[in-house]
Amino acid sequence: MNKPIGIGVLASGGGSNFESLVKAGIPGAKFRFLVVNKPGVGALDRAKRLGVEALVIEPRAFADRSAFYDAVAGEMEKRGVSLVCLAGFLLMIEPNFIRRFPGRILNIHPALLPKFGGKGMWGHHVHEAVLAAGEKESGCTVHVVDEQFDHGPILAQAQVPVLPGDTPDALAARVLEQEHTIYPETVWKVIRKMGESKP
Ligand code: GAR
Repeated sequence: MNKPIGIGVLASGGGSNFESLVKAGIPGAKFRFLVVNKPGVGALDRAKRLGVEALVIEPRAFADRSAFYDAVAGEMEKRGVSLVCLAGFLLMIEPNFIRRFPGRILNIHPALLPKFGGKGMWGHHVHEAVLAAGEKESGCTVHVVDEQFDHGPILAQAQVPVLPGDTPDALAARVLEQEHTIYPETVWKVIRKMGESKP
């Protein structure tokens, strides 16, 4: 049996995607570590409850973003992380972090990329923009992270309808339910591939 693949998660908020990943019981995956970029966020309570080690690493403690990401990558590597999952992580990923985990950083975005992605498009802003544009459907996307915001090869998408009278919160909840399904499924697929490519 192959050694499990170590997964690290980066989050900035409530952490429901982090919890759904851990609870999915993905075969061959070992959730080793959560890093959040600010204190007091909900994801930390979930980590405690789920028994996953967690650390707050704040960008302002470093000279620049690149130094921040070097520190995060170092902590991940120390714990045997080889796949990083962004779960509601709202900072732009810098090139030095991508170089440490090439093709090994995944993100979930609450819209059907390439629509409604990019700077400023996060959380409720995304759902407000979808409603304002009069879209008939929305959804979520899992993709590999590259050097552009909400960009990089798409691995999976799930669609949901936009219903008459929808509010951003109602649409967000419908999308989030799908996120909790497609993210663990996609991580499982990626892990199977990583296992196959090992010597
Ligand atoms: C999720 O909807 C996730 O897709 C979104 O933030 C929410 C986090 O929820 N991410 C982005 O908008 C990234 N651009 P969670 O903290 O409960 O997982």
